[in-house]
Parts: sequence; C-alpha cells; structure tokens
Amino acid sequence: MRRSRTGFLALTLAAALFAVTACGDDEPTAPSASGTGPVAGDFEFFSWWTGPGDSEGKQALLDLFKQENPSVNIIDAVVAGGAGTNAQAALATRLQTNDPPDSYQRHAGAELLADIQAGKVEDISAIYDQEGWRDIFPQRLLDMITVDGKIYSVPVNIHRSNLLWYNPQVLEEAGIAAPPKTWDEFLQQAQTLEAAGKTPLTIGPLWTQEHLLENVLLGELGPDAYSGLWSGQTDWTSAPVTAALDKYTEVLKHTNLSEAAADWQPAIDPIIDGDAAYNVMGDWANTYFATAKGLTFETQYNVTPSPGTDGMFNFLSDSFTLPVGAEHRDAAIAWLRLAGSKEGQDAFNPIKGSIPARTDADPSKYTGYLAHPLQDWSNASTQIVGSLTHGAVANNAWKAELETALGDFVADGDSAKFAAAVKAAYEANQ
Ligand code: GAL
Repeated sequence: MRRSRTGFLALTLAAALFAVTACGDDEPTAPSASGTGPVAGDFEFFSWWTGPGDSEGKQALLDLFKQENPSVNIIDAVVAGGAGTNAQAALATRLQTNDPPDSYQRHAGAELLADIQAGKVEDISAIYDQEGWRDIFPQRLLDMITVDGKIYSVPVNIHRSNLLWYNPQVLEEAGIAAPPKTWDEFLQQAQTLEAAGKTPLTIGPLWTQEHLLENVLLGELGPDAYSGLWSGQTDWTSAPVTAALDKYTEVLKHTNLSEAAADWQPAIDPIIDGDAAYNVMGDWANTYFATAKGLTFETQYNVTPSPGTDGMFNFLSDSFTLPVGAEHRDAAIAWLRLAGSKEGQDAFNPIKGSIPARTDADPSKYTGYLAHPLQDWSNASTQIVGSLTHGAVANNAWKAELETALGDFVADGDSAKFAAAVKAAYEANQ
C-alpha cells in the first residue's frame, strides 16, 4: 500500500519536474536584465506581515520601493495570522486558480518545493547572475532555494527561532537568578514561578505550539539528532525522541495552554504585563517588545537561547518569488531586485528584527539584540539547523500531517502515537 503511494508520488514528482522544465521553456526566459529606471502601475505584494512586530519592516521596504518607483501603485495584500497560517491557505487557492499576486512570501527551503514542482514560480537565476548574488548569499541558503540548478526566490532575511524571551523583573521577584539552561531546570523554576502566581511559559495557537516543540526537540536531542528528524536519519519512534516528546508534554503543563492566545503577540503580552516569565518565539518578537511596546532591551525584556540550545542557531528565512503569470511582472522583478539588494536588506532588517540574508550587511545598523544574531550567524562554531514550523526542513504535505497529529498530541500527550504518525507521514510524503 505504502509502496504504491510512494511510487505514485515519485511519478507525480517526475511529472511535476518535467512540467517545470517544459513551462520554463515557454516562459519569457530570463527576467529583464535592465533593472534601470523606475517601474510604474500596480504591484500586488502578498504576505502575512500585518500587526505589530510583523508589519513595520515590511512597511519600510515597501516605502523604499515606492520612493524609488514613485509611479508604482502598491497593493499590499496581507492575510493576517502569524507564521503565515492563514496566508498559506489563501495563497494556495490563488495559485490553483492561476491568479497569483505579483510577488508572494514563502519561507526559504522545503516550503517552496511544491510551488517549484507545480511550475508556479519562475526560475530567477538570471537576476542572481545579473546582480552577482551567487557570491553574496550564503551557499547554505542558495542550496535551499535551488532545484536542478535553478533559483526560485529571493531571501530577504535570517530569523532565529530558538529564543527564550523573558521579563527580568518577574525572575528577580521570584528569586530566580538566571533563565534556565535546560528544560529540566525550566521545570524546576516553573514550581517557583507558579508558587509566586506567575505563568512560567506562555503559548499561543498551534503554530506556536509547533515552534515550542521544535525547540524542545533541539534542546533535548542536540543539533545532529534534531536535523536527522527531517532527513529520515533520526527515528521518530526511538527512545531519545520519545523522551524529548514526553518532556514537551511536561513543559506544556506549565503554560497557559487552556487559554492559549490567538497569535504570537498576545502570547507575549502577559510577559510584558508581569504576569508570566517566559515565551519561546523567533526574533520578530524583538520588534514587538522594542518598537511596538517601546521597551528597553535587557532591562525591561531580555532573551537567551531556548533551554539546551546554547551555541545553536535554529534558522529560517523569508523569501519572495516571481509567480508564473504575474500580471505586473516588471514591477515584481524591480521589487525582487530591491528585496535582494544591500540597500533593501539594510532598510528592512533592522526594523523587522532579523539580520540580512546577504553576507555584506552594514554591522553598524544591527545594534542591541540584533548584534547577537549577526555575530552568531557568521561564527564558524555556531551549529546551524533549520526550522520546522517556518518552512525550512519539511515539505508541505508532511508538515500538514505532522500538524494534524500535533493537535492531537497536545491534547492527549500520547507521544508514541504522535511519533508513529509523524514517521508514517514522513515515509508517505518523500
Ligand atoms: C514567521 C516569519 C517571520 C514572522 C513570523 C510571525 O514565519 O518568517 O518573518 O513574520 O512568522 O508572523
């Protein structure tokens, strides 16, 4: 049964790849080389960046695009929902009906594969050649957006997933000297925090529960075994993974899961209000604390690697595409050139709370919290792994099944059932 499904998928994949090649031949081949002179008319930009902490960086980049192309009319097509939970579904419908926006957001990595295989995005290698980007973006990232030697998106940033944000005052008042270095230590601190009437760890909707899961797995298993979960090298049903999953269940008992917040920003609010101590979230949270709430880094809020992940960088990258059939293709190409430029990345990232995907950032623009990821990302001793929740490591079909199983796991705590479901879904979707 499984064998035949795998065979079917292999055939589908081969057909899809053939379709990409065939369709590439019919398309207006290389995007225009000119890149000179402003573009005019409509440009529809699709993302999930809305709400405090997500929208500020986007606005800075769109403003720069408008400044350089005064006659362009930007249509900012946002679909609310952190991590693109709702946007991905809306986008799927538009792509299916061949009604794409002019450029849309995807995470770099496995999340873009299905679009490439279905021939939904153009090969934009020519832009990389024209702009000299093959030498400017890290090879690891180029590999993630390249299929059969062709590149399909422009990464605008690097975000870090494995971060534990906290309120230093709440710790101090509870007599806790420092944030936990391991999840076991967190579980001990949780008793103290609960006795003081504080929520140890806050949580939001399912994607934030998945975000927590990936970082508990990384902290408990280490970078190699964690990466093996996505490559098939680590057995989901093995004893160490089961133990890590059970640890996750223990951790969840010390969250506000029963009244989980609607998105990542309201999940952070109890920390700001002094009612909770910790939240595991990516570094877009910095913009929420600092810009949206006007708080001071280190004294009013602080951050440390999530427990067990010191020296590790669980990364993700937001990237933009040139959809096949984009109505305003010239504007989209101009947009992609800006999104990948040093000027564009240095305008966007300091505000977004991320570091540039490019390797030639101006370090003077990355101060406060951002000085840390900038240094860690390029430090040769940092162990870099990819994020599950944010599209780097698992293809969309497998990830969707994992998320369905995770909903059950969070409710019933049955780690064996969850591990078996994830393993079966992996095998069915390769
Ligand atoms: C991530 C995305 C970030 C940020 C976050 C919260 O998936 O890569 O840029 O938007 O979701 O919405």
